Amino acid sequence: MGVSALGYLGFEVSDLAAWRRYATNFLGLMDASTGEDELRFRIDARSWRIAATKGSRDDLAFIGFEVPNKAALQAVVARLKAIGIEAHADEDLAKRRGVTGLVTCSDPSGTPVEIYFGATEVFPNPLISPAGVRGFVTGEQGLGHIVLYAADAAASLRFYQEGLGFRLSDNIDMPLGPDFSLELTFLHCNARHHTIAIVPAPLPKRLNHFMLQVEDQEDVGLAYDRADKQGVKIANTLGRHTNDHMFSFYAFTPSGFEVEFGWGARTVGPDWTVVRHKSNSTWGHKRLSNS
Ligand SMILES: [Fe+2]
Repeated sequence: MGVSALGYLGFEVSDLAAWRRYATNFLGLMDASTGEDELRFRIDARSWRIAATKGSRDDLAFIGFEVPNKAALQAVVARLKAIGIEAHADEDLAKRRGVTGLVTCSDPSGTPVEIYFGATEVFPNPLISPAGVRGFVTGEQGLGHIVLYAADAAASLRFYQEGLGFRLSDNIDMPLGPDFSLELTFLHCNARHHTIAIVPAPLPKRLNHFMLQVEDQEDVGLAYDRADKQGVKIANTLGRHTNDHMFSFYAFTPSGFEVEFGWGARTVGPDWTVVRHKSNSTWGHKRLSNS
C-alpha cells in the first residue's frame, strides 16, 4: 500500500501580502492563518491545505502526502527503505502541521516530502470562501494535483511509483517542434486522474503548477472574470485536457509558478487502462504568456 492522497502543500514566497490577497480574493481560499510568519488556507473541512512562508525561493517548499493510519505510514516507510531512501519521524514537525504522525524525506529533485496520518479536521467551522466559491473537490481525491519538473525523471518516477506507490495513468507526448516532443507522465494514488505529473526538464523551479478543482463549472468562469478584474495574469486560456478531461484555465501566482483552476475531470478506477496522448488539450488552453 502506498500514499492515499495529496494532503497539503507548502510554498516559500517572497511576498506574503500579495499571496494573501491572491489566495483569498482570486482563488477564493479561506484564510486560516494563526500568525504572521505562515499563511494557511482552507478549501474544505481540514484545518489547512495550503501554507505559505516568507523566503526568496518562490517555489514549492514541501509536499504532504496522506496515509489512512500508522500501519499505512509504516508500510510506506518500508517501501521507501526498499529503494534506499530513509524517511525519518519528526514529532515537532507533526505538531506544527497539526497531524498525529509524520515522516520526512526528499524526492530526487530535493523537494521535501512529508508523509503523515491524522490531519486536523475543523468540520464544525464551515468553509466560507471570500470569493464565493461553492466548494472544492477534495475528500478521497485529496487536495488536487501538482506538476513537477525533474532533472532525472527516471529517478523521480521510481521514487513516486516504487517508493510512494503511485500508479501510471497515462503519458502525453507534448509536441515542442516538428521533430521533438516532451514525454509527460501522469500518476494517480486514488480516483483523481493524476495527483502528480512529472515533466522531464531541469528547470530552476520545482513546481510547474498546482491544480484546484471546483464542484461547480460556474466557479471556473467566475474565477476567469476575477482574474481580469483583479489584474491576475492568465497563462493559458480556458480549455479541456485530453487525459483527465479537466475544463480549466491557468493563471500565474505571485511566485511565478502557475495554478490550474478546473472543473469536471474524470476519475480513474481499478479497470483503468494506460494510454498515450499526442496533445495535452482537445481545445483551448492557448498560451498567452510565459511569465
Ligand atoms: Fe494540471
